[in-house]
Amino acid sequence: MPAVVPDHGCQENKVTDFNITDWQAQLMQGRSGRMKEVLYKLARPLLNISVRRHLSKESLDHFRPDLVLPERGFPLATRRKWGSGFQSLAGKTILVQGVGNGWDVASWAEFRPDTIIGIDLFEFPSWPEVREYAAKEYGVKVEFKASPLHKLNFIADRSVDICASDAVFEHIDDMPAVMRETFRILKDEGLVPCPKRITYKSGNLSQATCI
Ligand SMILES: C[S@@+](CC[C@H](N)C(=O)[O-])C[C@H]1O[C@@H](n2cnc3c(N)ncnc32)[C@H](O)[C@@H]1O
Repeated sequence: MPAVVPDHGCQENKVTDFNITDWQAQLMQGRSGRMKEVLYKLARPLLNISVRRHLSKESLDHFRPDLVLPERGFPLATRRKWGSGFQSLAGKTILVQGVGNGWDVASWAEFRPDTIIGIDLFEFPSWPEVREYAAKEYGVKVEFKASPLHKLNFIADRSVDICASDAVFEHIDDMPAVMRETFRILKDEGLVPCPKRITYKSGNLSQATCI
């Protein structure tokens, strides 16, 4: 299905054809049984011990190592709860970066934040359907916008509680620019959950790399 390509003068912008997976099928795939979720919740402190070994002293001192877990095999709901710091999302604003067909917006809607902003370079035809689903099922406002993640000037400084993404950062061309924009719009206690590891050389954001 051809995607609508906005003109942002961005390097990733090129007219392309690709298969767009059905957002509902992708949402269902991510669902797991209640039992699995409970087991992961019980095992979480043990999993965290194995992760702490890989974090520097600076990370342990400054960030939330309790929220860092191995990236594979987790039920989606567990990852979402971990990504939101195990807090209630009532009244919060979430930015979902690189939403694709929008299934990940639908999965965040289940946690009933106030608003979700979904961004992707390309405008996907399923977005109106996802917007309607989130409003009808969970009373969540969803706004979609086609934009590169390093140019979010339509979002105010310090206005977003969580900037979340699934399988996006490894595709970003200018990661430092995206991180600068992410931290501009993020509130002071905001969180950036993502299922890939990001490393910072010498703690310098301008040399950030995503692995
Ligand atoms: C692998 S897909 C993941 C889509 C969706 N998050 C999912 O899990 O199905 C990566 C998405 O990131 C988007 N993307 C890549 N670079 C981007 C950028 N600089 N700004 C905005 N979106 C970007 C792509 O258009 C694509 O939809």
